[in-house]
Amino acid sequence: MLGLKERIVAVVPILEYPHSILRQRAKSVAAIDKTVFRLADDLMDTLVDSGGVGLAANQIGSLRRVIALKMPEDEEPSVYINPRIVHREGVREVSEGCLSFPDHYGIVQRSMWVRVTGLDRKTNVFQICADGLLAQAFEHETDHLNGILFIDHLLSHQHLFEYPDEEEVEPEHEPNDEYLAEAAQ
Ligand code: NI
Repeated sequence: MLGLKERIVAVVPILEYPHSILRQRAKSVAAIDKTVFRLADDLMDTLVDSGGVGLAANQIGSLRRVIALKMPEDEEPSVYINPRIVHREGVREVSEGCLSFPDHYGIVQRSMWVRVTGLDRKTNVFQICADGLLAQAFEHETDHLNGILFIDHLLSHQHLFEYPDEEEVEPEHEPNDEYLAEAAQ
């Protein structure tokens, strides 16, 4: 029997490169209506199902400026509407992947920290100062909303790497922070 809190989980297909919508710029959400909440739910459910840390609307076929993030330590994903990076500071090299490029990763340059503003899922204005994986995820997902992909940031001498087949992965090592930073976004 379904409990009262049960709801239909809407996992939708994630579009993969080179789908043309990944190269288009998403439009700002001008009015919050039920279609925005539906998009937010689809993003959250699909992100959780994928096991990634971030997902942008373009990746599920919508050109509206909405993203979902779920850090490894988060129990629930968060949704951000019209997210905008208003300040960046510092440069670092990080390993990065993307749910639209299954099984691939590359070394890119990202900021040390960012300040982001926009609306949260309850349509409250938020302002977040983020560093580490969260800053990287905000940069990666707001890039998606602008039609920019992580391969555009690959260091010139770098190429895209493919993850080794599973049988080649040594299982005795516990995942560490470095590994988590490679989680698909
Ligand atoms: Ni991505």
